[in-house]
Amino acid sequence: MGNNHKYEDEINFKAVIKTPIRWFGIVYIFFIIFVIIGGLFYIDSLPVLTANKVPPEGKFAEPFKDIAKKKGIKLEGVDVKLLSKPNDELIAQGKTLYESNCASCHGAEGKGDGIAGAGLNPAPRNLQSSDGWKNGRKISQLYKTLEEGIPGTAMVAYEYLPIKERFAIIHYIRTFSADYPIDTEDELKQLDIEYRLSEGKFSENQIPVALAMIKLSNENQELNKKASKINTFLDDNQAVAEIFRKIAFDYELTYYAFIKNSEWMNEFSNFEAYLNRLVQSNAIKTTALNLSTKEKEQLFEFLKSIN
Ligand code: HEC
Repeated sequence: MGNNHKYEDEINFKAVIKTPIRWFGIVYIFFIIFVIIGGLFYIDSLPVLTANKVPPEGKFAEPFKDIAKKKGIKLEGVDVKLLSKPNDELIAQGKTLYESNCASCHGAEGKGDGIAGAGLNPAPRNLQSSDGWKNGRKISQLYKTLEEGIPGTAMVAYEYLPIKERFAIIHYIRTFSADYPIDTEDELKQLDIEYRLSEGKFSENQIPVALAMIKLSNENQELNKKASKINTFLDDNQAVAEIFRKIAFDYELTYYAFIKNSEWMNEFSNFEAYLNRLVQSNAIKTTALNLSTKEKEQLFEFLKSIN
């Protein structure tokens, strides 16, 4: 009779309905099986589930580096042989350009003692001395410095300056000392070929992927529309246009950075702090740190007025 229990005797269904925890006692074995199967399935799918989160190995593990935004360049071709000879006109033009673009770091007399250069490491080159040059002091080598900058230092590229203006600056720099070496004819030819100076330089506009994504996002469409007007605004204010030229990788993006956040607007000191933040986040050039207070104020007033 012991084997003749009815099922109801083994499982007291009434009690189960009253206290659902008992139900669990009955199905837990299925529960565990479910967890194990689920777990195995999860482990099996890990590579898929985490696909974009695991940094790839080897050389691809470097942080993603976006392409820089570059305005298409249209530079007139030049006669290198002719331009490589200094004359008064070129030197005078070079002096003006040097004073507005370079003296802040390299000093009015080229001694590397400009205010903005203080504390830089490496320090701005002393253009009067022949010590410690990386690219060198020949025209062709100076041109390379202006075209490419010295990567990893505050010496940025001035590739946007017209070729003739760069030669003008070079001739002016070379008046700082009598011992600047002379290029051979071959070196000048090589310079011409390497940077296609007689052909001029033409390139398409290029924008970083990140910027393209901002531009694509609907949310920001209004701001984008506004940012795209920056060139029109600058046309009416040449002094600020000059400042933009110094600090902006890209005019639209720079203006965009200012209008997407208005915390800088109440006070000049906030503006200065915001400027520094933009430099730190690489949104604008480090040259923004060298702006004079007057220039910063001009920029501040201008941005406020068009906001
Ligand atoms: C923000 C500061 C800054 C500005 C502005 C600046 N430079 Fe420099 N420059 C430097 C620094 C820093 C170095 C030293 C880099 C190094 O030692 O690698 C340097 C180095 C140089 C060198 C030496 C290159 C070599 O072969 O070693 C030349 C030439 C030069 N700058 C020219 C210019 C000219 C011309 C301008 C203006 C069009 C200019 N710099 C603007 C900071 C600046």
